[in-house]
Amino acid sequence: MKSYFPIRKTNKLSKQMLIQPMFVDQRLKSPKKIKGLGENYSWPQSTILKAVEKDLKKGLRNFLFFIVPKEKQKLPEDFSFHYEVIRSLKTQFKKDLTLLIDTCLCSITPDGHCGISHNKKINLPETHYALGLAANTYLEAGADIIAPSDMMKDTTKYLRKIFNENNFNAAQIMSYSTKFKSGFYGPFREAANSTPKGYDRSSYQLPVNDRSKAIQSSIINAAQGANYLMVKPGMTSIDLIQEIKAETLLPTGAYQVSGEFASLKLLDSQGLGKYPDLLMESLNVFSRAKADYIITYGARDIVSHL
Ligand code: PBG
Repeated sequence: MKSYFPIRKTNKLSKQMLIQPMFVDQRLKSPKKIKGLGENYSWPQSTILKAVEKDLKKGLRNFLFFIVPKEKQKLPEDFSFHYEVIRSLKTQFKKDLTLLIDTCLCSITPDGHCGISHNKKINLPETHYALGLAANTYLEAGADIIAPSDMMKDTTKYLRKIFNENNFNAAQIMSYSTKFKSGFYGPFREAANSTPKGYDRSSYQLPVNDRSKAIQSSIINAAQGANYLMVKPGMTSIDLIQEIKAETLLPTGAYQVSGEFASLKLLDSQGLGKYPDLLMESLNVFSRAKADYIITYGARDIVSHL
């Protein structure tokens, strides 16, 4: 099976390892700047092909899409907007574009939680069922990699099972396998319309103070059939990458999340640092820490320097 992000033999930062996040928002009529994230916009569907084309010309190839539908759904089952977006991207760009799709429910549930909950408690079977419908739809539309970020128990196992049942045996899964509950997701939640209401995400995201639980979470996802693993937020998790790789022998990447990236931009805007240097420094640190791929809002700014 083709690996889009193989385990790297060197520590050198390269453009093949970069993944650019992109937001498509069905509520928008024109592009909307995402607060704190520099040249990152939420795009209306009508402009997304042009936006991607521009990035491809810069030398980017890998994109992680967050697709935000207009309507909230209590029991999500309609992923037709996602389907249309994915289909149009893959029809236009085919293999020039490696298309990863964030697979979660937080942009679609009325309470902004990553699963379906009743009385502040996640219902796992309902959540898995909805995530499975979503992931199948994305694969049918042509997605290259499914990236579940919900952090519910056994999601990777569930997805692998239904992919096998639906003849998607070769489907690839990039698991957000070590994802912490974090204060660094702020700018993202505004763009994804996914701020949680009523209770926080500590019942399903990892606590930062428990190293063995953090490593174990990636090991479990590897055993359940993930092809790629991830630590997130990247900067606060770099100490975990090598151990996860040693335990699982799987490619492991780092996600420089919205709040981390925004902090670089803020230093620059206050005259306290230079964004391009800060970005280069931080990405080199991920590379030194042996991340096999890096998801960063700065991918399009750095690609021509590599
Ligand atoms: C959705 C999801 C989140 C991020 C990626 N997927 C937010 C969250 O868990 O609250 C955060 C990414 C970022 O901050 O850049 N589950």
